[in-house]
Amino acid sequence: MAMEAKVLESLLKEERAFPPPPHFVEKALVKDRSLYEEARADREAFWARQAENIHWFRRWDKVLDDSKAPFYQWFVGGKLNVSYNCIDRHLSTWRRTKAAIIWEGEPGDDRVLTYQDLYREVTKCANMLKELGIKRGDRVTIYLPMIPELPIAMLACARIGAPHSVVFGGFSAEALRDRINDCQAKLVITADGGWRRGNIVPLKKNCDEALAQCPSVEKVVVVRRTGQDVNMTAGRDYWWHELMAKAPIGCPPEEMDAEDMLFILYTSGTTGKPKGVVHTSGGYLVGVSTTHRLIFDIKDDDIYWCTADIGWVTGHSYIVYGPLANGCTTVMYEGSPDWPERDRFWAIVEKYGVTILYTAPTAIRAFMKWGTQWPARRDLSSLRLLGTVGEPINPEAWMWYYKYIGGERCPIVDTWWQTETGMILISPLPGVTTLKPGSATVPFPGVEAAVVNSSGEEVPLGSGGYLVIKSPWPAMLRTIYGDPDRYVQQYWSKFDGMYFTGDGARWDEDGYFWIVGRVDDVINVSGHRLGTMEIESALVDHPAVAEAAVIGKAHEIKGQAISAFVTLKEGIAGTPQLAEELKAHVAKKIGAIARPDDIFFTAELPKTRSGKIMRRLLRDIAEGRVLGDTTTLADPSVVSQIKQQYESQEA
Ligand code: WTA
Repeated sequence: MAMEAKVLESLLKEERAFPPPPHFVEKALVKDRSLYEEARADREAFWARQAENIHWFRRWDKVLDDSKAPFYQWFVGGKLNVSYNCIDRHLSTWRRTKAAIIWEGEPGDDRVLTYQDLYREVTKCANMLKELGIKRGDRVTIYLPMIPELPIAMLACARIGAPHSVVFGGFSAEALRDRINDCQAKLVITADGGWRRGNIVPLKKNCDEALAQCPSVEKVVVVRRTGQDVNMTAGRDYWWHELMAKAPIGCPPEEMDAEDMLFILYTSGTTGKPKGVVHTSGGYLVGVSTTHRLIFDIKDDDIYWCTADIGWVTGHSYIVYGPLANGCTTVMYEGSPDWPERDRFWAIVEKYGVTILYTAPTAIRAFMKWGTQWPARRDLSSLRLLGTVGEPINPEAWMWYYKYIGGERCPIVDTWWQTETGMILISPLPGVTTLKPGSATVPFPGVEAAVVNSSGEEVPLGSGGYLVIKSPWPAMLRTIYGDPDRYVQQYWSKFDGMYFTGDGARWDEDGYFWIVGRVDDVINVSGHRLGTMEIESALVDHPAVAEAAVIGKAHEIKGQAISAFVTLKEGIAGTPQLAEELKAHVAKKIGAIARPDDIFFTAELPKTRSGKIMRRLLRDIAEGRVLGDTTTLADPSVVSQIKQQYESQEA
């Protein structure tokens, strides 16, 4: 039997199932399986039908061109403008006065922009960019907090055909510098600062530091947000509000080719250098608008809130482009979920009557740790649908979300996708799919996913292996900016003709996908490989545990031993007895093979700014190595604290 079948085999059994509730099905956009059948019968025809929902200046000649595979092209010959699709076409309808963006600032200020407001701001911004010398094809780096100027700037770039590269506001000056230089940006849009837990993130200062080593940048536009003094370099730096006051309203949208670049978004890979993932216009917009509409069951009266930061792909696709293309009301929040108190998310849901909430498992686990008294203080009855993204959700967190946030009436769409995929690829359709807590369920119509062994052969249902996508999809990345070889190598070389996701997965007897996590987070204990996520899930299932990270620690006899770093719920002490109890609990949930060799209690886990636990650093600690790169951590001090504690405990 191929190793991989064993390796990733999931031992954790989840038997709960939640069919779509009848009250939801009754009004759902998709109520039956016909879309799946339609897509299976003719995938390209299915996507072409979805593309009809987009406004094209010129219709495409060919849906999919695979003659230069894996450099696939979609809607070849089609002409469109993404900003026109997200704004202008709503202006001739009643949606002209509908809220496009509802924005909430961390200090409690708020702003609502209708589609008409968005048109005014975006066309002015586009004229401002042109005035500053930006032409079609020039790259613009955007380094902003979560304020309305961020989507306005993105849409203005899209309007004039200048690809944007949004750099998450939490990145350092060096990270910003490397991203600017990689794409040779001509202009940077930033702010004086951004608010985070009542403190100012000094964006302009970081930007100045970065720009000392960015020769391509000619101009900088600075949004005033926090109001503190910043350095303005004459001839290079301009205030957004001053230029915008002079910019005229109305700017004709560039007619872009379907395959013209819409944006570059940097993401971490297996090497130290971030990859500039390239997305284009036509296929991307078709992909994100279709998945957004059908997976989130978007109706005109929905108030939809995705809590991601626009600095990540989730914000690009499911705060900005998907929702606005669908004429939806999209909520944006600037700050932290625990500011000023731990009920901020629930206060926002209550304030705006949010109907659809899309957030991350890591946030849900934090909410679990904080306790149910926080959501209980607020009225969450407007919610009708919940979503998660970013990492596997452990069944206990799923159940908590379902019960305490969704009031046991809201389906949960667990959506699997990546920066590279651009759009959600595996997810339930909430009016159709029976949910299983912890499973992203099945591929979206028109998407072909599979679980294969190391030879690229599909493994039988009920076993595990590598998650692959068997055929191209419209919002797929087109290349790595400036490095097409890396694109081919990274994604298309492991298995012939298939996209390699880098994730391990199992499909169960019903064909449901259970994502085990990155393949590099899989550990091998005595010849059995286990998903770190599964052990973590078992740990988090214990009532004392808030969060856990599991790593494989080099072990003479077993190859690897399981080490668990565990954060306990507030008020619970990490005693040796509890450690034994947790080991027994894991053994009971999964099997003796998954029993951790050691459990280490810690107050925090090292996380990236997007909330992913950096197990690599925990491995370094556990194996007594010098710590690897910690620059992507949200709080680099966490890891040195854990290291000290760990070493003193070992001694
Ligand atoms: C993981 C985020 C399990 C996965 C959109 C993937 C998930 C990586 C899920 C991409 C999910 C994302 N269930 N795992 N629903 N969604 N992942 O590029 O390992 O930041 O490869 O894109 O997150 O992360 P990225």
